[in-house]
Amino acid sequence: MEEKKKSILDYDTVALDEENHALVIIDQTQLPYQTEILSLTKQEDIWNAIYLLQVRGAPAIGVAAAIGIYLSAREIKTADFTDFYQEFQKAKDYLDSARPTAVNLSWALNRMEEVVLKNKEKTIPEIVERLHQEAVEIREEDIWVCKTIGEYGLTLVNPGDGLLTHCNAGQLATVKYGTATAPMYLGQEKGYHFRIFSDETRPLLQGARLTSFELKESGLDVTVICDNMSASVMRKGWVNAVFVGCDRVAANGDTANKIGTSMVALAAKRYGIPMYICAPTSTIDLSTISGEDIHIEERPAEEVVEMWYEKPMAPDGVKVFNPAFDVTDHDLIAGIVTEYGIARAPYTESLKEIFKKKEEA
Ligand code: MRU
Repeated sequence: MEEKKKSILDYDTVALDEENHALVIIDQTQLPYQTEILSLTKQEDIWNAIYLLQVRGAPAIGVAAAIGIYLSAREIKTADFTDFYQEFQKAKDYLDSARPTAVNLSWALNRMEEVVLKNKEKTIPEIVERLHQEAVEIREEDIWVCKTIGEYGLTLVNPGDGLLTHCNAGQLATVKYGTATAPMYLGQEKGYHFRIFSDETRPLLQGARLTSFELKESGLDVTVICDNMSASVMRKGWVNAVFVGCDRVAANGDTANKIGTSMVALAAKRYGIPMYICAPTSTIDLSTISGEDIHIEERPAEEVVEMWYEKPMAPDGVKVFNPAFDVTDHDLIAGIVTEYGIARAPYTESLKEIFKKKEEA
């Protein structure tokens, strides 16, 4: 009998292969055409996988980096702490340089570094084992974080609502549930039957290739629209709320997310539709004062003019501007949904409260 075909959600987005000491990811550049699983052991391959968006989405990048630095630490051949720490820092800086906007990358790497510093009196194999445990913990934690964001998010909507999302803040961007998609998946379990609109998300089409793919595979009612259609579906009254993910939230609530998010926010404001940012606390960076201070990644021109079509899409040599993210001003945001509750304006105060709750937990 032919083996039942696995759904994309049966695969791990990002995991540690304990036996082969490898980072295992689904190559997201190949989706939805084919499901290719990559098993990566070398630092350079892990860096490339993050840079090339084979693994992508802020939380997934953080988990990949945590596993990546653990794998690098295993390879450091010394019994001396100072030498070990020097090599560890080199590997950390290298992985951190793969992408600049999603703060989860440095958040996870800093958390791993703290483990090294807290255990400096231990032997190197013991430190490496602690790093192993921490990487596994960061991955496991992400499941709870996303599920809890989903539970809070679900309190903001009603059965049958039309929900719009941009880019992929889904299971493919996390370990499970996603952030912006978590209320959708949890709502489905309760029979809410949402109507979901997924912006295609130019230039790399994470909305069309990934979000609509994973939602459709899960049996949710999803409709792909081009990025320039979101205002039109809002005007028709088809959208009750917007849920998006984020790559970095500044202390004042300004939020960096995939390019095009701020356009969606402006349209939602015009039509009186609440726009919610789904943000694990690992994506909130209180040391960044406002959106002005967020480093926005710029990516190669080919992504805009060549990548997804067989024929060139623009004249050879034309100038291209390709920022991967934009900043949504905090006054366009109705709420920031975290695993410790929903922050509302003024965000400078409410985000601090969220971190207070986290410390007390
Ligand atoms: O360039 P990408 O695909 O990594 O961008 C991803 C996004 O912008 C997501 O919305 C964000 O990382 C949140 S993922 C839960």
